[in-house]
Amino acid sequence: MALLIRNGEIVTVGSRVQADVYAENETVTTIGKNLVVPPGTEIVDATGQLVFPGFIDPHVHIYLPFMATYAKDTHETASIAALIGGTTTYIEMCCPNRNDDALAGYQLWKSKASGNSACDYAFHMSVTKFVRETESQLREIVADGTSSFKIFLAYKNFFGVDDGEMYQTLALARRLGVIVTAHCENAELVARLQEQLVAEGKTGPEWHEPSRPESVEAEGTGRFAAFLENTGAAGYVVHLSCQKALNAALAAKQRGVRLSVEVVLPHLLLDKSFAERPGVEGMKYVMSPPLRAKHNNETLWSALALGFVDTVGTDHCPFDIDQKLLGKESFVSIPNGIPGIEDRVNLLYTMGKQKRIDLDRFVDFASTRAAKLFGLFPRKGTIAIGSDADLVVFDTSYRGTVSVKTQHVNNDYNGFEGMTIEGRPSLVTVRGKVQARDGKFVGERGRGCFLKREPTHF
Ligand code: URP
Ligand code: ZN
Ligand code: ZN
Repeated sequence: MALLIRNGEIVTVGSRVQADVYAENETVTTIGKNLVVPPGTEIVDATGQLVFPGFIDPHVHIYLPFMATYAKDTHETASIAALIGGTTTYIEMCCPNRNDDALAGYQLWKSKASGNSACDYAFHMSVTKFVRETESQLREIVADGTSSFKIFLAYKNFFGVDDGEMYQTLALARRLGVIVTAHCENAELVARLQEQLVAEGKTGPEWHEPSRPESVEAEGTGRFAAFLENTGAAGYVVHLSCQKALNAALAAKQRGVRLSVEVVLPHLLLDKSFAERPGVEGMKYVMSPPLRAKHNNETLWSALALGFVDTVGTDHCPFDIDQKLLGKESFVSIPNGIPGIEDRVNLLYTMGKQKRIDLDRFVDFASTRAAKLFGLFPRKGTIAIGSDADLVVFDTSYRGTVSVKTQHVNNDYNGFEGMTIEGRPSLVTVRGKVQARDGKFVGERGRGCFLKREPTHF
């Protein structure tokens, strides 16, 4: 059915205009004032509301076998939560481990999403080893439409690659025009520090951060940048958490290294005191890189406001309380991860307003920039003729509170519990179809499609 969103303030990067948006056959076909539309068109009055391009979460985990368990969401639960919160596309980390076959892993991850996601999706393909068949398998995966890789410098012997494997991955990515995203922590230092702390009887969740201090992340970030510099590949640091790592990334950018930076919601809004809470309350907040000393929140917000940071994702990775308790004897065994997919847009909008970040930046770091970096623009990430009609009508007068009691993510806690939100989507569409309204899923399950992406980083 055709759709008209009437008289909202359309916000895209570089433009704010009061107008109507008309969509037909899944795409935006007309933008203008007082549009006359065919009979039967679904009409939504957006007077007094903002109209944003569908938001993109560039970093989520949905199917994830990790740390002796599995992340809790399915594509059905995660996509419904995403849509209610205004995210219409997510990019999932496809994470076979070192013992898995990469191509079989890719097919498995795709099968988990296919027919189950209510929003559109893509993958970053993790390269967790580099062996004889890796190059041909990666070429096949890129030809299938997955044009970004992921490497982990952390998680020794599981997801982690060594420097030789990182070099081979980046050299291939350079030839293929593929961008490589990277988790930047020094695996060896983490393993040694964990061993030392546990030997000293320091086993509670409060020791997770000291086991992977800022210098460990700064080293990983700087090393990744040096490898980019020497291979000419394009790279993207995921979930950068602190000043020291930011310094390493900015120094590389200044040298002309092709490096982009992502921060994630927990590192903007939470700090290490949450993980220092006793027992399971602290375990809920264990993720990697860890939540940091509070001053880093401001560092990241400033970097975001200034455009030094490119995107804000979530690193959505839900483990419930029972799973977190796998680490009750030692922080080393606490499944790493915090959910966030449902709350990212509302909390970023709310906090961004308080921090006087303008709407242009907000749309850029929560949608447009990810679309540009990951080969989705202008299909996604903007409102323009020919773009997919992924639209978020945003009610700035809404007031509410984040809570586990109302969330759709499949988990029994919410790390942002009690935070207030000043605005939320009143309507969310995916390719012209209304999928969520006022905090409720009203759409078609399984409507989401796999987004094929061409390499763009030559
Ligand atoms: O703690 C985290 N971040 N868990 C998910 C895996 C990863 O490192 O992104
Ligand atoms: Zn990571
Ligand atoms: Zn992650």
